[in-house]
Amino acid sequence: MKKLIAGNWKMNGSIESAIDLIDGIEKAITEQPALLEKCDFLVCPPALHMMAVQGSLENVSLGAQNCAATDNGAYTGEISAAMLADLGVSYVILGHSERREYFGESDADVNAKAAKAIENGLNVIICVGETEEQRDQGVQNDIVGAQLAASIPNNANADNMVIAYEPVWAIGTGKTATADDVAAMHGFIRDFLSSRHSGEGRERILYGGSMKPGNAAELLATPNVDGGLIGGASLKVDDFIGIGKAA
Ligand code: PGA
Repeated sequence: MKKLIAGNWKMNGSIESAIDLIDGIEKAITEQPALLEKCDFLVCPPALHMMAVQGSLENVSLGAQNCAATDNGAYTGEISAAMLADLGVSYVILGHSERREYFGESDADVNAKAAKAIENGLNVIICVGETEEQRDQGVQNDIVGAQLAASIPNNANADNMVIAYEPVWAIGTGKTATADDVAAMHGFIRDFLSSRHSGEGRERILYGGSMKPGNAAELLATPNVDGGLIGGASLKVDDFIGIGKAA
């Protein structure tokens, strides 16, 4: 399976910088086409920048960072899955820990959004992960297991869903989980997915949290790590492509 190298640009940049970034990424991939033998690339710009980067996309797919749980209608400020699909978006990140923490998104919210996204033909990247306190208490499997059980909608399967394991304490902090901890958690998630699909469980499972060119080779070589969800390092062409090279 190719690794999915996914950039989560979060709420950063301008229209101009977004176009520069995607142009740089596309140019680097064109110059090193072997990257595409091992990796699929995805960028998830801020919603307002998606149309601006679209004209530059050749080898990179387009994703969104959120969507509404409802169909089109009177929901001021929301963006529906149908609108994303209409734009040609292929993925949507859901349940990122920043959305869970700052915007109060619950597992039930993530489940409803994911169901709607899949209904509209999008692939979902459902994020899960424990806090530092929960890891210190040794309850990370209970936390992630409960998030998976409640966040994954009934219409999700290995062809339309990716799981991203992002330990909250590793996001944007420069701290990464050890390869052993990542292997243990990804194995746990794989088992969960296999039992859910009566023995299939071939979903991609991404690791996220301070992934950089320097630690990507080890993380991406860890069993059951099928790619990365990359925040800070996805905002620089060299770092993002460097992670692809590490794969
Ligand atoms: P980071 O963010 O790479 O900056 O830690 C990862 C994420 O939030 O998806």
